[in-house]
Amino acid sequence: MEIKRAIDNVYWLYNGTKKLASLNLVKDQTVYGERLFNIAGRQYREWIPSRSKIAAAFYNGLRDIGIKPGYNVLYLGASSGTTVSHVSDIVSEKGAVYAVEISEEMGSRLVLLAEKRRNIFPIIEDANKIDNYKTMVPKCDFLYEDVAQRNQAEIFLKNADAFLKKGASGAIAIKARSIDVSKSSRSVIEETLKTLRTRLEIVTSIDLRPYQRDHALILVRKK
Ligand SMILES: C[S@@+](CC[C@H](N)C(=O)[O-])C[C@H]1O[C@@H](n2cnc3c(N)ncnc32)[C@H](O)[C@@H]1O
Repeated sequence: MEIKRAIDNVYWLYNGTKKLASLNLVKDQTVYGERLFNIAGRQYREWIPSRSKIAAAFYNGLRDIGIKPGYNVLYLGASSGTTVSHVSDIVSEKGAVYAVEISEEMGSRLVLLAEKRRNIFPIIEDANKIDNYKTMVPKCDFLYEDVAQRNQAEIFLKNADAFLKKGASGAIAIKARSIDVSKSSRSVIEETLKTLRTRLEIVTSIDLRPYQRDHALILVRKK
């Protein structure tokens, strides 16, 4: 099988088809039913684009998300930890993922994941209420948000102001329909960009179809 590096700890595997995979930080453990590949003494974990918006962005041409080994990442809308687990692979044992999730049900699965992956720190909280977790989160090198809420741009700005280092990058997954069902996806995305632009530089926006319907991933940088 041919292997090409995408970014540190993430690779494209070629065997007839092209698959994205991250280096598995916890050997022989899967998180959401993804396949494992053992190649030349290393274990790769398939990163499925229909299950993770960051993977979908790579499949749609993204070259670099901006997350590196050793980074502290603040992740808002962690759910049960599907994408969090791949971010945990990327930052490796040298880095940390502070994973915020409002739902106790999803949060309990996240806590179980964090028992196996020691670089994940689950925070079962509302990402609107930064005062409730500000003592648990250091200044971060990257901010990711996937909350699918009406005020998702405001939540992102609030957390970027409090936790993101100056000049650091972030990404926000926008589910256009969840913000306002009466508007077209395009105008909802434009509105979200306008709000983000008030305090952040917009680096690029990637349409996530066909892997994620009505979604875009917006990459930003803190000025
Ligand atoms: C689309 S899912 C996230 C999927 C996940 N990012 C992944 O790729 O594996 C959105 C999640 O955001 C959570 N959420 C919604 N509003 C939130 C808030 N205000 N604070 C924290 N989490 C929130 C939901 O409970 C849900 O689990």
